[in-house]
Amino acid sequence: MVVVTGVAGFIGHHTASMLLDHGYRVSGIDSLTDYYDRQVKLRNLGRLLDRDGFAFRQATISPATVRGLFAGAAAVIHLAAQPGVRDSWRHFDTYVDRNVRVTKTVLDAALDGGVERVVCASSSSVYGDAPSYPTREDGPLSPRSPYGITKLAAERLAVAYGTERGLSTVSLRYFTVYGPRQRPDMAIQRMLHAAYSGDTFPIYGDGTQIRDFTYIRDVARANCLSALFEVEPGEVFNVCSEHPVTLNDVIAAIETATGRPIVRERHEVAMGDVVRTGGSADHIRRVLGWEPMTSLLEGIAQQAEAVRASLELPLPGVTSSAS
Ligand code: UGA
Repeated sequence: MVVVTGVAGFIGHHTASMLLDHGYRVSGIDSLTDYYDRQVKLRNLGRLLDRDGFAFRQATISPATVRGLFAGAAAVIHLAAQPGVRDSWRHFDTYVDRNVRVTKTVLDAALDGGVERVVCASSSSVYGDAPSYPTREDGPLSPRSPYGITKLAAERLAVAYGTERGLSTVSLRYFTVYGPRQRPDMAIQRMLHAAYSGDTFPIYGDGTQIRDFTYIRDVARANCLSALFEVEPGEVFNVCSEHPVTLNDVIAAIETATGRPIVRERHEVAMGDVVRTGGSADHIRRVLGWEPMTSLLEGIAQQAEAVRASLELPLPGVTSSAS
């Protein structure tokens, strides 16, 4: 059995679904925080609740709530967190609490409960703007946002529990994950809603910032491999596509994929937003045989279709009978 924390979130429900597809039992926990619309999380959860082998508990992570849950778990994939680079300048206590203190609670409970592996969600934001690209796991770390600082603290805790206390931990530095049911505050989901609704897309800066957008199924596969295969305690891996692009490139790709224009509404560069991310996946490729397999165009097509279907818009080329 594998425990997935934050199971109602974007990465959580895709990861649980992939584990179930491969015959693993999954125990999910989520407190359904209101960082974004809880209905989105309930819909994610709705895709899992009637599946064989899935159990769910709605609860905040504490020693009491996870002790029983972790008993007999082969692995814990710890995805519960307070996400969002831009929001982290406000509500800092919430970021420290949900990203650092809760991670320690999970690590302590895993140690006590004899859990064989803990996979922790880290972030490309631990690098900040790097002196050179692609960034490798042993390169300098210089996060530029309170969010990135809490993610780095959580990652270092996981490494210390690995090296000092013998707990088998793996931290995954995810690079801007996208795909169907992406978090509603993230760029690609907002661009698609803007394209389909005609609303404006708020663009922070001039769109020349570069991101190594990584497709959700590739990320879910990295989570599963990291949970189930042999690795050194305290291991850290980048999880990235190795094909960084500008935000303007993504806007153009979405306009082509949807056949609709995106109207930009220009805003200041967001505080703590890095100019560029771009990782090397060599380490995880070498240790776990993981590869990024989904191109940006394929991934955008999948996400565009999910947004179109959720808005109940007709398929392209199909005109409704009323028109
Ligand atoms: C994302 C996630 O939100 C973080 O949780 C994660 O840890 C991080 O990736 C990571 O890679 O570590 P971010 O790269 O900011 O953070 O992802 P998006 O929200 O998709 O933003 C991408 C770019 O688009 C940023 O430069 C952002 O400023 C910009 N953006 C975003 C806009 O211009 N407008 C928006 O409405 C949203």
